[in-house]
Amino acid sequence: MANFFKYKSAADLEAENARLGIDLRFSDDLTPLFQPLTIAGRTLGNRWCIHPMEGCDGELDGRPGELTHRRYVRFGAGGAKMIWGEACAVVEEGRANPRQIVLNEATKADFARMVADCRAAHRAANGDDSGLLFGLQLTHSGRYSYRRPVIATHDPLLVGRYKVTADTPLVTDDELKRLVDAYVVTAKLAVEVGFDFLDVKQCHRYLLNELLGARNRPGPYGGSFENRTRLAREVFQAVRAAVPANVILATRMNAFDSIPFNPPGEPVPHTLPLVNGWGMSETDPFTPDLTEPLRWVADMQTLGVTLVNLTMGNPYAQPHFGRPAEYPPPDGYESPEHPLIGVDRHFRAAEAVQRANPGLAVVGTGYSYLQEFLPQAAAANVRDGRVAIAGVGRATLSQPDWVRQLLDHGKLDRKRVCRTFSYCTAIMRAKDHPMGQFPTGCPPFDKEAYGEIWKDVQKLALKK
Ligand SMILES: Cc1cc2nc3c(=O)[nH]c(=O)nc-3n(C[C@H](O)[C@H](O)[C@H](O)COP(=O)(O)O)c2cc1C
Repeated sequence: MANFFKYKSAADLEAENARLGIDLRFSDDLTPLFQPLTIAGRTLGNRWCIHPMEGCDGELDGRPGELTHRRYVRFGAGGAKMIWGEACAVVEEGRANPRQIVLNEATKADFARMVADCRAAHRAANGDDSGLLFGLQLTHSGRYSYRRPVIATHDPLLVGRYKVTADTPLVTDDELKRLVDAYVVTAKLAVEVGFDFLDVKQCHRYLLNELLGARNRPGPYGGSFENRTRLAREVFQAVRAAVPANVILATRMNAFDSIPFNPPGEPVPHTLPLVNGWGMSETDPFTPDLTEPLRWVADMQTLGVTLVNLTMGNPYAQPHFGRPAEYPPPDGYESPEHPLIGVDRHFRAAEAVQRANPGLAVVGTGYSYLQEFLPQAAAANVRDGRVAIAGVGRATLSQPDWVRQLLDHGKLDRKRVCRTFSYCTAIMRAKDHPMGQFPTGCPPFDKEAYGEIWKDVQKLALKK
């Protein structure tokens, strides 16, 4: 097993940074992280965001389950002022797994209770929830929909993965068009149950991300930049018109897709130029090319988007880009690069978008790999204007109260720091459960909820 992370101090990390020739920065002065920020007239009380993370623990009808509810109550109490609610399918056929949450008339009361209890927990632990912004990620899982893959483009490099064959039909233009209404219906319900911002998800190779890169799709939703951004544009316009002005329009977007990797960590064989993909040139799928993402971010602002969360990669095809990790998930491979290079790639992409749009609220990704030094890295990035808000994913599952730890003790609780061993992703990939999907969280540091679940997943793995 790889052993990359052996740093005892930020100074050790700075030395590694110099050795690798990358641009990670660290600051012991955490005050920039506790300055408020105004986003579209709303106040965000600090610069910490909890990234969207599916627990795969909804009920079969789409209602948030007990563990879903528990997660958001813990996040609420934790002290981060931006809580980016997880992927929520806008149509049943767009669910990534049978336990992905779905917001509709039948489930809305449970969502409302979850939002209210999250806010109440925030007030109880932090005194005041006026600067708390809680959003929801509206998604269609596209080729990763569990019932059947809904593909927007024939990507030769993804054939043979997740039930997609060379004959899988493309989703039709009419079917795409009809989705606009589904986004609007879900968006209105999300506002009704109390969410403050709405994310039209365009990342991780789900449907709207796939369309962004669909250069080889014929018709009005493929080919030119204008066509590839058409559906998302129509969704933003329709949602903006349908919800009150104080609701923040947001997106989580891939800055860079790259191509699939196979064990032991090699890119799949491919021929250049590539026929599709987003945030990369046709001739170099390993280096972000932000020309189109920057153009799209500029356009989205004219459509009313004021909050952009940047991410990259495809968690099913090459997890190392999106989630730099010390130990890979079971369907992954040892990191083919030093994970700090992956962290730096995230930071640079966010910086490019932030610098080109100084007034935009940009949320950055890539912090969990830095373990107990993530606050110092976030502080330096916010101080230097590289990003407005630091988004944290896996590390919040092990220590949901990490912002309170910083406020009360000036540092994280070392006993519950995420070591990026990929337990959370491993459980997510385990489907052999009576409900078709295991719920996920942090087995090593949240044993109360996930200890037994992890044992079941291991037993299954042994049986296989
Ligand atoms: C268990 C799990 C569930 C996730 N679910 C989502 C999701 O619903 N939406 C999304 O945009 N990203 C999702 N992600 C990706 C995270 O938001 C984040 O981008 C990723 O973990 C990298 O950030 P980190 O290094 O701080 O963990 C998920 C990640 C994990 C580990």
